[in-house]
Amino acid sequence: MSSNKESTARTLIVALAVSLVASVFVAGSAIYLKPIQEQNRQLDKQRSILAIAGVSGDKLSAQEVRDFFNARIKAEVVDLSTGDIKSDLDPNTFDALKAARDPETSVQLAGSDDIALIKRREQFTTIYRLEAEDGTLEALILPVRGYGLWSTLHGFLALAPDLNTVIGLGFYQHAETPGLGGEVDNPKWKASWSGKTLFDADGKPNIEIVKGGVNPASPDAEHQIDALAGATLTSKGVDHLLQFWLGEQGFGAYLAKLRPQLSPQPSAEGA
Ligand SMILES: Cc1cc2nc3c(=O)[nH]c(=O)nc-3n(C[C@H](O)[C@H](O)[C@H](O)COP(=O)(O)O)c2cc1C
Repeated sequence: MSSNKESTARTLIVALAVSLVASVFVAGSAIYLKPIQEQNRQLDKQRSILAIAGVSGDKLSAQEVRDFFNARIKAEVVDLSTGDIKSDLDPNTFDALKAARDPETSVQLAGSDDIALIKRREQFTTIYRLEAEDGTLEALILPVRGYGLWSTLHGFLALAPDLNTVIGLGFYQHAETPGLGGEVDNPKWKASWSGKTLFDADGKPNIEIVKGGVNPASPDAEHQIDALAGATLTSKGVDHLLQFWLGEQGFGAYLAKLRPQLSPQPSAEGA
């Protein structure tokens, strides 16, 4: 009887010791891997920004992506209400998604103001400028997000220096159904965005995702994109998120401030 008790106690001690060692190992690995995971997330984001801006990041090594990013991409934090640059905030550490969750640093959206279905919008966000070596703007890369059918799609929209023509649109995170809404990642669909124009002559957002396909002969074709087959709801989500981020609640104020800085100034002779 006593030897039975001894063996149960021994089994319990061994089980306890094994689980202690295992938990120390798991906790240690999590702590050790956290900075590596963070670095990989950062690298994926940088690669995605480059690809959407037309720089084929897939073919670059991790170090080349970092070097290109450091040399040619300038990040800035923008106040979405005023369109001003917040030079007191560091774009490398500022977390716009965290800010969007905090009532102190975000605004609540409701009804027709929340067509992207994001509930809260951060006051400040980070934008990226792809610059030539002399500092000239080659592409402006804006973060965008909005709800599809199952999930919030997070991505970037790259604009040409006319701030109207699309260079690229892509999503780095979503949970839409593969083969349906997940076709937002289809390279052919993504390529169909390039060259489309986003605004009317009066500066109002004008981009539409069309169910049944775009008629290339239509005068509106330059503002239209084919909806994804069998995924009307995700397509609508993408349409709505662009209306939101290009409009007053999104980058409207920032783009309005930037436009006059980029458009050629009338020469003294012509004046
Ligand atoms: C399992 C399942 C997954 C679906 N996933 C998506 C999706 O990711 N995005 C989407 O728009 N529709 C999805 N749908 C289809 C929608 O329910 C809806 O039928 C569709 O958006 C209508 O598009 P259509 O008018 O082009 O057929 C899914 C349907 C099922 C049954």
